[in-house]
Amino acid sequence: MEWQQSRLLGGSCVIQEKLAVVGQGYVGLPIAMRAVEAGFDVVGLDVDETRVANLQAGVSFVEDVPSEQLQEALATGRYRATTDAADLAHFGYTIITVPTPLKDTVPDLSFIEESAAEIAPYIEDGCTVVLESTTYPGTTEQLLVPLLESGSGLRAGVDFHVGYSPERIDPGNKTFNFQNTPKVVSGINAGSLKMVSCLYDRLVDRTVPVTSPAEAELTKLLENTFRHVNIALVNELAVFAHDLGIDVWEAISAAATKPFGFMPFTPGPGVGGHCLPIDPSYLSWQVRRSLGRNFRFVELANDVNDHMPDYVVQRVASGLNSQGKSLKGSTILLVGLAYKKNTGDIRESPALRIAELLAAQGAELQAVDSYVESHKVPAFLTLVELTEQSAAAADAVVVLTDHDYLDYTIVENAPGYVLDTRRRLVGLREPL
Ligand SMILES: NC(=O)c1ccc[n+]([C@@H]2O[C@H](COP(=O)([O-])OP(=O)(O)OC[C@H]3O[C@@H](n4cnc5c(N)ncnc54)[C@H](O)[C@@H]3O)[C@@H](O)[C@H]2O)c1
Repeated sequence: MEWQQSRLLGGSCVIQEKLAVVGQGYVGLPIAMRAVEAGFDVVGLDVDETRVANLQAGVSFVEDVPSEQLQEALATGRYRATTDAADLAHFGYTIITVPTPLKDTVPDLSFIEESAAEIAPYIEDGCTVVLESTTYPGTTEQLLVPLLESGSGLRAGVDFHVGYSPERIDPGNKTFNFQNTPKVVSGINAGSLKMVSCLYDRLVDRTVPVTSPAEAELTKLLENTFRHVNIALVNELAVFAHDLGIDVWEAISAAATKPFGFMPFTPGPGVGGHCLPIDPSYLSWQVRRSLGRNFRFVELANDVNDHMPDYVVQRVASGLNSQGKSLKGSTILLVGLAYKKNTGDIRESPALRIAELLAAQGAELQAVDSYVESHKVPAFLTLVELTEQSAAAADAVVVLTDHDYLDYTIVENAPGYVLDTRRRLVGLREPL
């Protein structure tokens, strides 16, 4: 097939039909699937050979992309997963969706750097590169653009286009998906913004252009910092309310009836996933590095949220104590390991931290979570089903992730101590 090259033509753009997505994870795979649906020829590049082999065999590991959808995409002949960067040749658009973790509390942009090295040799006149990975403001223009220019010998904003568009997907959300969530778009100049907008106008219902990549990068960090800080607020309140003998959950529900000026957030065992424990620290790191100042809200929120697992363990210890038992030697059944309900993502999950803390105190641990791939579960955790027998055998049952598939009547009727960190068992057992 001949790949159609695009040019800016009198203020409009001819869309390019070959799209490459670098990184086929939770973000990249749904984008690739949507692009196939929208008529693009899509190459999904990933360095993980097992993941690519599974994708080629039609096996998806992302809950929001059923394997049937992947198989349909493969059957069109317009989707291919690959580990070979040479398959990027003649791309019109490339979207980068690789990880942006912290390494020793410092942003680790090595995956973006490696992606730039993979892409640069294949950049041609008129093509467009878009970064979607979450990162601190300035990354697109100060890190990505120089790498693409030096690797290609071409000029960004003149010979090829570059932009940033933050990903907003919410894994497991049945209402808002990639297509119906407005997409913030940006470019390093007017021509780049035009090309980036043209791409996403074909993929999503609504695009929201902003002035430059830095505003788009900050938008994402603002959204996640907002959630992180508000979750920390209700977490701290939950601890005080418990000691005061007040039901914080009821207060939050009542406050949520106010039709303006309030947005409900709920307490929990801590924050997890690839976003909240990491993204706000990208911003505070940049503020400290560039301005020499502390982003106090982020630091306070980190402190409160990071200590929630300790608080959960303390509550379990008190609950067992009230039944004349100690953590040491008690069997504790952890219900849910993923950081978020109805997903199998255990990255940074507070449940794992809680499990470590309980194990360190000599508890015997069992865990229930059929979403999580068993090889990712630490060896000291025994995976079991949630049954009347497993609940009855436990001295304590702790609900950490309230997956919808679980039968909570079993937990409600468990004979031992029950702590419900998600308030799933409304009023029937002890909430956080
Ligand atoms: N998961 C979410 O809910 C979510 C939401 C919004 C934004 N984000 C952001 O999107 C980015 C990606 O997150 P994710 O959850 O999809 O991560 P992920 O780990 O699920 O997927 C990333 C993929 O990139 C691959 N990869 C790494 N280096 C590569 C390289 N040089 N070339 C090709 N592939 C490479 C990995 O093998 C992996 O499969 C991160 O910056 C994250 O913060 C994630």
